[in-house]
Amino acid sequence: MKRVQYDRYGGPEEMYFGDYTPPPLERDQVRVKVKAVAINPLDWKLRRGAMKLIIGRAFPKGVGSDYAGTVEAVGEDVTNVHFGDDVFGTMDFKIAGAFAESIVVHSRYLTRKPERLSFSEAACLPIPATTAWAAIIDKAQVRSESRIFINGCSGAVGAFAVQLALARGAAVAGSCGKAAMPAAKATGVDPVFNYADSPSYREAGKFDAIFDTAGTMPVGEGISMLKRGGVFVDINPTPGRAIRGILSGRYKLAFATMGTEHLPEIAQLATEGVLRPNVGLEKPFSEALTAIADAESGFRGAGRLVLAL
Ligand SMILES: NC(=O)c1ccc[n+]([C@@H]2O[C@H](COP(=O)([O-])OP(=O)(O)OC[C@H]3O[C@@H](n4cnc5c(N)ncnc54)[C@H](OP(=O)(O)O)[C@@H]3O)[C@@H](O)[C@H]2O)c1
Repeated sequence: MKRVQYDRYGGPEEMYFGDYTPPPLERDQVRVKVKAVAINPLDWKLRRGAMKLIIGRAFPKGVGSDYAGTVEAVGEDVTNVHFGDDVFGTMDFKIAGAFAESIVVHSRYLTRKPERLSFSEAACLPIPATTAWAAIIDKAQVRSESRIFINGCSGAVGAFAVQLALARGAAVAGSCGKAAMPAAKATGVDPVFNYADSPSYREAGKFDAIFDTAGTMPVGEGISMLKRGGVFVDINPTPGRAIRGILSGRYKLAFATMGTEHLPEIAQLATEGVLRPNVGLEKPFSEALTAIADAESGFRGAGRLVLAL
C-alpha cells in the first residue's frame, strides 16, 4: 500500500509516497479502502510541526485526515458501519494518515456516506463541517433570531457555517475575497464584505456572534462588534488566545474534534441538501505531493482540493 508520509517536520519537500501496511484491526476499529481524500490546512500545519508537542517525534507520520471510501473490515465491537458500506470521516489528528490506499480508524470517526454525495464530495465534509458545527451550534448557539458575522465565509469551514446558520433561520453577514463575493451573496450571505476593506464591516451593526474562520480579526475588534451577551468564536488559536478562551466568557475557541460526534447528523443534513460540499479541483492520488504543496502555497479556487484514488 502507498501512503503520503514524512520522516521529519518541515516543508512540502519532506513528503513522499511510502510503503505502508495498515495495522491489525482492534475491536472498535474499521479498515477503509480509501476512494477520495480532501486537503485541509491542518494537513500541512501538522507536517510543519505546529503540534509537535502533542503528536511527538515518532516517524514516519502519515499526512491527511478527511476521506471517503468503502469498509473493508470491522472490529467485533463496531456497530455503526458494516462490511461493504460506503463511509466518510476523519481521523484522530495525533495519528493522521488518511492520504493512503487503505486506513484503519476508530469507528467514532466515521459514518455512512450519504447516497446523494460522491466520494469526493463526502471527503470535503468532516473537518470543515464538524468545525462549523462546533462553532455555530455548540459555541455560538445560533438561533432563528440571531445575527451572525462570518469572517472568511467563502472557505470550507465558512461555507458550512453559513449553511448551518441559515438553516437555523439566522441572518448571516460575512467577509471574503473580492472574487468570492458574488457566490457568497448567492448562498444567502447579506451583506457580503471584501476582507480587504475591513473598516466597512466594523460599521455593519452589532452581532450576536462573530465567527472568525480565517484567524485575521483582532479579538478586541471582534468583541466590539458584539451585542451584549454575544460571543466571538475563533478556530485559529495562539497560546495567548487559548488562555483567553479559558478565561473569557465572550471569546470562545472551537475545534473540529468537538464536532466529530455529530458526523451522523452532518450526513443527514447533507442528505437533505442543507450542507452542500463544494469540490473545487479533483486530482489523481498520484499527484498528491504537488497538490498538497499547491494548496499550502496559497492556491485556492472555489471549493476544496480533492485527491481521487
Ligand atoms: N480549530 C480547528 O479545529 C480548525 C478546523 C478547521 C480549520 N481550522 C483553521 O481554520 C482556517 C480556515 O480553514 P478552511 O479549511 O476553511 O480554509 P479555506 O477553505 O482555505 O478558507 C479560508 C477562508 O479565509 C478567507 N481569507 C483569506 N484571507 C483572509 C483575510 N485576510 N481576512 C479574512 N478572510 C480571509 C478566504 O477567503 P477567499 O478564499 O475568498 O480569499 C476563505 O474564506 C485554517 O487556518 C485552518 O487551519 C481550524
